[in-house]
Amino acid sequence: MREGYEGTGPGAITPDGCAVELYARLPVADEPDIIAAAVPAGAHILELGSGVGRVTHPLLERGFTVTAVDESADMLARVRGARTIRSSIEDLDLGERFDVVILASFLVHAGDEEVRRGLLRTCVRHVAEGGCVLIQREGADHHTDVPRERVDPSGFTVRITSVEPAGEGVSSRTRSGPRRSCPDR
Ligand SMILES: C[S@@+](CC[C@H](N)C(=O)[O-])C[C@H]1O[C@@H](n2cnc3c(N)ncnc32)[C@H](O)[C@@H]1O
Repeated sequence: MREGYEGTGPGAITPDGCAVELYARLPVADEPDIIAAAVPAGAHILELGSGVGRVTHPLLERGFTVTAVDESADMLARVRGARTIRSSIEDLDLGERFDVVILASFLVHAGDEEVRRGLLRTCVRHVAEGGCVLIQREGADHHTDVPRERVDPSGFTVRITSVEPAGEGVSSRTRSGPRRSCPDR
């Protein structure tokens, strides 16, 4: 598993600590509606860190074309109806440009600055002129509003139980899910 990440759960575990079976069972929320409202109808979307296709599949149903990228073959094996590419996001260089690039799931909070820069460079490298990059990030208080809890209407709860400094402007956050280190700002 990648340094700074931990995760447990049923089935295979990805290098960033996600349990594949857990993501296969997680329902989608309003992510596809938010994306559909922000981008042109029928756009070709590059989805970075697609996982099992929790968001990919509803985007396909809404008429978008999706290229789904993930470093986990176990995750990508669950994706249906989209072109899939197994790659680390940082190393991705398809030589193609997309109307929309999505970097969701708070991946932009990677604790390692070089990884963070690599993720953003990939967005820049793949977005078409006039296209857009959608990035999902935490609110400004995500390291101070602790402990906190979100009860999802579909029946699961996410708890952020502690945040501890891990040095060099990075904090380590423990939650009921994959643990990761994030920059403090
Ligand atoms: C928290 S899961 C979310 C999956 C999906 N976006 C969703 O919302 O259901 C994060 C996914 O991103 C992938 N991932 C994380 N960091 C990655 C990286 N640097 N390169 C490629 N894939 C990565 C993991 O393998 C995992 O499938």
